[in-house]
Amino acid sequence: MATLLAFDVYGTLIDTHGVIAELEDLLGEARAAEFSRRWRDKQLEYSFRRSLMGAYAEFSVCTEEALEYTDRALGTQLSQTAKEHLMAAYGRLPAFAEVSEALARLSQRGVTCVAFSNGTREAVEELLRQAGIDQHFSDIVSVDEVKRFKPDPAVYSHLRTRLEASAADTWLISSNPFDVIGAGHAGLHAVWVRRSSDAPFDPWGGEPDLTVSDLLSLAERFSVR
Ligand code: LAC
Repeated sequence: MATLLAFDVYGTLIDTHGVIAELEDLLGEARAAEFSRRWRDKQLEYSFRRSLMGAYAEFSVCTEEALEYTDRALGTQLSQTAKEHLMAAYGRLPAFAEVSEALARLSQRGVTCVAFSNGTREAVEELLRQAGIDQHFSDIVSVDEVKRFKPDPAVYSHLRTRLEASAADTWLISSNPFDVIGAGHAGLHAVWVRRSSDAPFDPWGGEPDLTVSDLLSLAERFSVR
C-alpha cells in the first residue's frame, strides 16, 4: 500500500487561535491572546480527563465547557450571546496560510491524505469546507467513532483499521506533541509540525520520526520518498 498521511486538524491544518479577532473585539487586545491560549489548553485538558474517566462527550462539548471555564477563571464575564458568537466562530476557524498549497502538491504526487481528529466527522467536514481545503482529503476519521480522545491508543489503532493501512505505511502529521507521542506509542510513524521555532517537544525520551516547520516542508519531504 502507498504512503498514507493522516493529518491532525485543530492546530495543524486549522488555526485554533483564529478566534483572536473576535476575542479582541470582546475583551481588548491585551486579554485576547491569554484567553485564547487558556481556552485551547483547557479544551485539551477536558478531552484527556473525559477519556481517562470513561466520560466521553463530543469535542465541541469540551470546547464549550472550556470556554465557560476560561470566562470564569479570567473573570471576563462574557454574555451568553458573546459565548455563542465565539462558539460559532470556532466552527469556521481558518486554515494556516500554507496548508492549501501544500495539500495540493501532495495530492498532485498521488499521496493519500485523510483528516484525523478529536472533532466529530460533521464538525470536521464543515470546518474543512469553510476553510476551502476539504477537496484534498479522501476521508475523515473521527475519534467519535470509538468514543475516546487522543492520545488513547484505541484511536490510533482505529485509524489503521478504518483505513485498512499497515503501521509501516501510516504517518500521523501533527503540531501537537501529545498526538505525535501517542501515535509513535501506538506504532505509527509521526511527523511533528513545529509551527513556532521556540515550541518545545515533551522530554519523554523519544523524538518524532521527522520534524518540519510547516506543511510545505512536509510536501517537499514526501516528494522524494
Ligand atoms: C485534533 C486535536 C487534537 O484535531 O487538535 O484532533
